Amino acid sequence: MLDGKKTLFSGMQATGNLTLGNYLGALKNWVQIADDYQTFYSVVDMHSITVRQDPAELRKRARNLLTLYIAAGLDPEKNCIYYQSHVSGHAELSWILSCFTYMGELNRMTQFKDKAAKHADNINAGLFTYPVLMAADILLYQADVVPVGIDQMQHLELTRDIAIRFNNIYGDVFTVPEAYIGKSGAKIMSLQDPSKKMSKSDENPNGSIYLMDDPDTIIRKCKRAVTDSIGCVKYCDEQPGIKNLIDIYCACCGKTPAEVEAEFDGKGYGDFKMAVGEAVVSVLKPIQERYADLTKNKDYIDHVIKENAEKASYYSNKTLRKVQKKVGFPEKIR
Ligand code: TRP
Repeated sequence: MLDGKKTLFSGMQATGNLTLGNYLGALKNWVQIADDYQTFYSVVDMHSITVRQDPAELRKRARNLLTLYIAAGLDPEKNCIYYQSHVSGHAELSWILSCFTYMGELNRMTQFKDKAAKHADNINAGLFTYPVLMAADILLYQADVVPVGIDQMQHLELTRDIAIRFNNIYGDVFTVPEAYIGKSGAKIMSLQDPSKKMSKSDENPNGSIYLMDDPDTIIRKCKRAVTDSIGCVKYCDEQPGIKNLIDIYCACCGKTPAEVEAEFDGKGYGDFKMAVGEAVVSVLKPIQERYADLTKNKDYIDHVIKENAEKASYYSNKTLRKVQKKVGFPEKIR
């Protein structure tokens, strides 16, 4: 509890260009619930180096992502938006927690297995202990809730286990966080293969709508979306392409699938796809405009970066001091 509100932590990696799926599935949610919590939204650049990055590119993307948080509607005066690497407590707590995490637990992480298979030439220790750093992110701010996608649930479970284990030894040090799963229907699939999640690392650029795509590109990608030969706009598992487009449409204009079915009853896929494209444009355009304005204002973004890193450091240091004392580190002489 900070200022009478529960605390929320979440983070995103600045690798790849953010997609409509990231926005509708995560960022939009973050904005909607932000007022109810004391929030920390981090650009988790330390997590990104578990796979090899081009340094200049990583730096650029990290800043773009931070700017995008603001453009999407997170007020940086109210929400602590910051770079993970600017707050040394993440690394410090991560080390301590790694001494309370078992090899066996980390070995069971499915994301590690997937990533190790994908980056077989670089299975580094950081890739293995990635979930410990994530636990440190969350526990450092005594977060009550953590909005995460289903793919991060296993990491959050581990975070809870570590917190409980630590508390059992040292007393109530950490808040045990809960997952915040957003409303269903927000899981957006690839436009080219509706059995796969829309991903920023998709090789086929037509499968994903990127947040910075211009209107023509968005409309074109929607028109080219893979559907079926059934020919009616119906929300069902037999029509995964259409189902996904309905999900996108609903998420963009707040309608229910039933309303969309009624709206396009007797109409063809062409009309429907056009409407989906336009709905996406109407959601992304204001974000893109705000983003363009923000990028012109370097001093403002720099100010946000500095102020919020200080704010995050302040809160994280409180937890870190407590933890250091509990495990037996000598007090600093001030
Ligand atoms: N691992 C998360 C992802 O790839 C990002 C992340 C890092 C995160 N630390 C976090 C998410 C803490 C929630 C809370 O999506």
